[in-house]
Amino acid sequence: MPLIIVGSGIAGLTTALAAAPRQVCLLSRAPDSQDSASVLAQGGIAAAVGPNDSTCSHLFDTMRSGSFHNSKPAVRYLVEQAADALNWLGNQGVLFDREGDDFHLAREGGHEFARIAHAGGDASGRAFMQALVGKVKQASHIHWHSETDVDALLLRGNSIAGVRAKNKTGDTEIHEANDVVLATGGLGALFSATSNPPGAEGVGLALGLAAGAAVRDLEFIQFHPTALALGTNFQLPLLTEALRGAGAILRDEHGRAFMTGRHPMADLAPRDLVARVVWKILTKGGNTFLHAQHLGDAWPQRFPTVLASCLAHGIDPRLEPMPVTPAAHFHMGGLATNLDGRTTVPGLWAVGEVACNGVHGANRLASNSLLEGVTYGRRLAMRIKQENVSSNTCGTYCFAERGLETSPSVQHYWRQRLWQTLGPVRQATDIQKALAELQQFGKDIGWRQQLAICLLQAALHRRENLGAHWWAESVDIDKKFALNTH
Ligand code: SIN
Repeated sequence: MPLIIVGSGIAGLTTALAAAPRQVCLLSRAPDSQDSASVLAQGGIAAAVGPNDSTCSHLFDTMRSGSFHNSKPAVRYLVEQAADALNWLGNQGVLFDREGDDFHLAREGGHEFARIAHAGGDASGRAFMQALVGKVKQASHIHWHSETDVDALLLRGNSIAGVRAKNKTGDTEIHEANDVVLATGGLGALFSATSNPPGAEGVGLALGLAAGAAVRDLEFIQFHPTALALGTNFQLPLLTEALRGAGAILRDEHGRAFMTGRHPMADLAPRDLVARVVWKILTKGGNTFLHAQHLGDAWPQRFPTVLASCLAHGIDPRLEPMPVTPAAHFHMGGLATNLDGRTTVPGLWAVGEVACNGVHGANRLASNSLLEGVTYGRRLAMRIKQENVSSNTCGTYCFAERGLETSPSVQHYWRQRLWQTLGPVRQATDIQKALAELQQFGKDIGWRQQLAICLLQAALHRRENLGAHWWAESVDIDKKFALNTH
């Protein structure tokens, strides 16, 4: 029986490639990974390969950004495998940006050293994914069914027996398998301001929950501090943190560099803190801008993606500052897994953003997400190759269904509500109101709203401020920032 992998971002494609010679049935909604968040990743992939750097320092930065809520063994594996992940990507045909023979390394928030290897300037995700998509298409062990939407897991007793999906012609397909890997990405698109593509709505999390899988850390949702502020638009262009690594400065409408003095790393403080400061200024009616005019002639080669997005919206970042807002970016929580990617449901595995093995703690360190996809995708593939591939098809199965669809207007409404209630700074009363409103729907609730309930409940449960989960009710937010020295 083939291994089924659902999702074609960096974690899914890595797992598929590394699973050879085991036969893989890869199911994805869009052809060529076009709808994947990995393609939009700008910064690159973190690895301690620069002079004076060490895996120890990468480990410490990852833990500090995660407010030490991380699983240390998970972080240790991540950072120790990082250099090998760069080699593996190179072997798949990724052409990293170089300085002579060495990687050109950028710096990003929360990192002590410049350690972000990148490709195509700020088009790293696109470059990595182009190489991997090419390899997957050549791989004889992978059968890629795109435009296929998985809407249920099959369960025989408590164990996975396959998936049910709608194919491109609208027909229902059943794919039986003893092992199913969910690599479906995150859920930023449940929020009205996000850097994620529209399909990042937590599909895999909904499927896992329906099958009874345990979840972990759902309240930790990362907001990227610098998305291009375009009013009410839903998917916002990202302004990579590497810009701040290259000297760009956040300023308010009076020109005040508002991160200076807030944290020893100022503009390069961990992402959760920067996002809260930006949020606080915006909610008080102020404006926030990223100034990167100093990059001048370096713009087209170093940041072509950001330059093109800004120009498309009538802003020339070489001449003027870019208006910024936080935007939902990454889910640290997800389906609880061990380091091999095993969930609590026999035969169900998860990897990448949909999974939570504790590696990111309460706030992911910049450019550790593509790294997670590659390192843990390869580890899962290695582990799964040791599994028994017997084709046990005895007995009937039942469906663990994702759940009801809702109308676009309902989805639009709840995206706004989640943005207001579960954004960078939260209020318990707002969360309680949103929960009460959702619970009125009873069994008629849509799957996205069901997920919203899980996120709201998880947030309500955590009474402390930790990483990306922060209460407005706390005495005085400035005092909290001062205490939160990371
Ligand atoms: C960025 O380039 O700022 C995003 C990188 C990441 O999310 O790790």
